[in-house]
Amino acid sequence: MNPVEEARSAVLEPTGHRWLRNYFSDSRDALLVGGLSAEQLAQEFGTPLYVFDAATLRQRAVSVRTALGPSVQALFALKANPNVSVASILRESGTGVEVSSIGELLVAERAGFPGGATQFSGPGKAGPDFAEARRFGVSILNVESEEEYERLAQAASHDGYRPGASLRINLPRSARGPRLRMAGEAQKFGIALEEAPALVARIHSENVVSFRGFHTYSGTQCFDAEAWLDQSRLLLGFAERVERELRIPVADLNFGGGFGVPYFDSDPEFDLNAAGSGLQAALRESSRPDRRHYVELGRYLTAQAGVYLTRVLYVKTTRNRKHAILDGGLNHHAAAAGLGSLIPRPFPIVRVRQPRAAATERYSLGGPLCTPKDEFSQDLALPHLEAGDLVAVLASGAYGLTFSSVLFLGHPCPAEVMVDEGRAFVVRQRGKPEDVLRGQFMRG
Ligand SMILES: Cc1ncc(COP(=O)(O)O)c(C=O)c1O
Repeated sequence: MNPVEEARSAVLEPTGHRWLRNYFSDSRDALLVGGLSAEQLAQEFGTPLYVFDAATLRQRAVSVRTALGPSVQALFALKANPNVSVASILRESGTGVEVSSIGELLVAERAGFPGGATQFSGPGKAGPDFAEARRFGVSILNVESEEEYERLAQAASHDGYRPGASLRINLPRSARGPRLRMAGEAQKFGIALEEAPALVARIHSENVVSFRGFHTYSGTQCFDAEAWLDQSRLLLGFAERVERELRIPVADLNFGGGFGVPYFDSDPEFDLNAAGSGLQAALRESSRPDRRHYVELGRYLTAQAGVYLTRVLYVKTTRNRKHAILDGGLNHHAAAAGLGSLIPRPFPIVRVRQPRAAATERYSLGGPLCTPKDEFSQDLALPHLEAGDLVAVLASGAYGLTFSSVLFLGHPCPAEVMVDEGRAFVVRQRGKPEDVLRGQFMRG
């Protein structure tokens, strides 16, 4: 290859190649998920289809547990993937769970999590959530405002129960770290650090709920382990201050999550070992062996374990541009269509047939919806595509279906399949076109 050809082929390298290299077995001709052929899975279960790999879920849970050590409990942030089978595999692998709605709580229950391993977060929790948390025996409600505390205290005093409550702290420093920030400024999430001591003192003196400690979550897609540790040390220092100055014990500390997953070629890997050993060192220094510590991770546990398979319906060329029209898109995988990202860039996407083949063409890749937003890429370098080809969106185990506007345009919900030890199980049945009518009534 001469230098010009080399530069050209580098530009044309599909964004999925790095993912194939790093996370998929080295089979030249086929894309395998959990050892099974993606093409065969699509034939057997139809498309569009989510496929999850149980072994990868287990491996992610184990690596997180190993890095954090025995004094930190990992919770699975269920919002990343509320599939019951995904959640139950993570439970079997030793994680607890963090939920943010009654629906998620029901999924956690079905997945076998006990209430004692469950924490309940979210800025809009109210009466029915508190009642459900009580029924399930949720160990900690992460309270996000003084107003929420007052409602919780009111519910508790009526019902004669004493919920465990931590305060979600909005830390002041979050300039470095997460790409999508959910702390640091005036945010709807949590209680500002400087406003928290007064509320802690109030909760302690009113003694209606059991004050447990603090929770924080500063945002998602953090690639800087040191920045994440900074936040954790800040929370730890704050807990020590509260114990020293208010003489109120802090029994539980939840350091949040947001560990980054590299979707794009320019993304770094999050240094899990640095985060884990740094946290362990900080905890050793704080020398409170009786305190319980948590992190809550969604994307980092599940993103790598999922693939979204969609079939090319048509390839057309118009005004010198090639468009591949797929049978699924934004309605099933809004994140891959750019929802939630500041700069839309294509997810790691590969052609399933000979996925490592050289990229020779550029495609706009979009689904069947009547909106230009329904596009995984405007200009993606891929091997030649034909109608009938399968396309795989890798890195799709987190914020896939759950983050998508499934009702938009009334296409059915895709099926979800779990591959485990060489066998494939349907873990969410495919929807039907008539689902769009479910629960609707003619007026009058
Ligand atoms: C409170 C809370 N915890 C945990 C998470 C999970 O974040 P991630 O998937 O980035 O680990 C989120 C995501 O929005 C969140 O809001």
